[in-house]
Amino acid sequence: MKNQIHSSGKSSKGGLVSLLNRFISFEKDSNFLPPFSFGVWVFFLAGVIGSLILGWIIFPFVLYSNQPQPINFNHALHLNPEKVEGIEGDSELERCLFCHEFRDDGSFVGIPRLEKCTECHDDPESPLGDTREEKEFLIKYVAPDKEVPWLSYSKQPDCVYFSHIAHVKMGELACKTCHGDHANTERLPAYQENILTGYSINIWGKNIAGYKTNTWDRMKMDDCAECHTKMGYKKNNACFVCHK
Ligand code: HEC
Ligand code: HEC
Ligand code: HEC
Ligand code: HEC
Ligand code: HEC
Repeated sequence: MKNQIHSSGKSSKGGLVSLLNRFISFEKDSNFLPPFSFGVWVFFLAGVIGSLILGWIIFPFVLYSNQPQPINFNHALHLNPEKVEGIEGDSELERCLFCHEFRDDGSFVGIPRLEKCTECHDDPESPLGDTREEKEFLIKYVAPDKEVPWLSYSKQPDCVYFSHIAHVKMGELACKTCHGDHANTERLPAYQENILTGYSINIWGKNIAGYKTNTWDRMKMDDCAECHTKMGYKKNNACFVCHK
């Protein structure tokens, strides 16, 4: 009963005041009361859950701006030999290199240009399948012979030197190590750019607390260096190796 006088009498002043009163009344009370009553726990938990929602859901949501890719590209479909013929190779890597080639000088094509696509999609008037996506591709890009302005998820700033041939051929690393499961996807995720730093979420990290479960969750300077150290290439961690 004593307890009630404080809380109910002053509750009109708001939650915080009545909460403080509870603490004061506990000090003065000679009777034993548990320091945190049920109401206080609810109040506390509501605060914790509120901050978690703000920090984990709302903050990352406003921190990244979403840009959709110009059209969808379906990796899983093109890499399925039952659906698409002609993308050959004994290993998965060889089939990737059908589009993501190395030139004779060792430089990497990166995202293939339209001329690679028109090896098959050669007639804008006759689609190879019957999807809306393909028609859109034929009308918007193949017919006017216009490059698709793809957004690159892993593009590093210009000051960074990165060579695919060193990692894929010399280092024998699988594409997946750095890019995850992209090659098995049917739909392209939106390109997400960190509005404070300008980096893509694939570089800056999918998890704002900073921990990563997969090697491809983040690709900041530390992540490059961490793998070099682990694989015995610590000498590659001098500034001038990556910044020429
Ligand atoms: C028929 C051509 C084609 C083949 C074969 C192909 N890709 Fe792609 N790839 C593309 C196109 C087009 C894009 C750009 C759109 C996108 O992001 O998916 C792309 C983008 C990517 C990206 C995103 C790079 C970035 O940072 O934006 C990765 C990773 C990738 N491909 C990996 C692979 C792997 C691994 C394989 C082999 C298992 C493969 N691709 C086979 C056409 C192809
Ligand atoms: C080796 C031949 C080949 C190459 C090279 C190729 N495609 Fe295709 N593509 C196909 C075939 C065949 C289909 C139809 C498959 C089906 O619908 O069963 C298709 C389907 C598509 C579709 C519709 C699929 C969907 O449902 O999302 C799009 C869009 C597309 N291709 C874009 C591209 C782009 C962009 C490139 C170049 C990076 C490319 N293709 C390179 C053979 C090819
Ligand atoms: C050691 C990590 C690593 C491996 C392994 C790797 N990549 Fe990359 N990839 C990167 C980085 C880093 C970039 C950004 C490079 C830049 O901005 O200069 C990138 C960029 C790309 C791009 C976009 C290029 C562009 O011009 O925007 C494609 C496509 C791609 N990689 C495909 C592949 C494929 C296919 C493989 C396997 C054959 C592969 N990558 C293996 C780290 C890797
Ligand atoms: C998963 C492991 C791994 C990751 C991640 C990785 N590297 Fe490497 N890197 C290697 C290995 C292994 C070599 C040595 C290849 C060799 O020389 O045989 C290497 C070599 C290099 C070299 C020297 C080769 C040359 O062409 O001069 C540079 C530069 C380099 N890495 C830059 C980067 C950058 C930048 C990143 C991050 C964006 C990165 N690496 C991420 C494993 C990795
Ligand atoms: C293993 C490769 C690697 C090494 C070694 C390396 N960096 Fe970097 N650095 C990167 C990558 C990748 C980025 C872009 C991603 C990021 O900001 O973490 C970067 C970004 C930076 C940036 C920010 C540039 C910008 O535009 O925001 C600075 C500054 C920088 N590095 C300085 C250094 C210095 C100084 C050293 C030597 C102590 C060094 N780096 C060594 C890979 C490397």
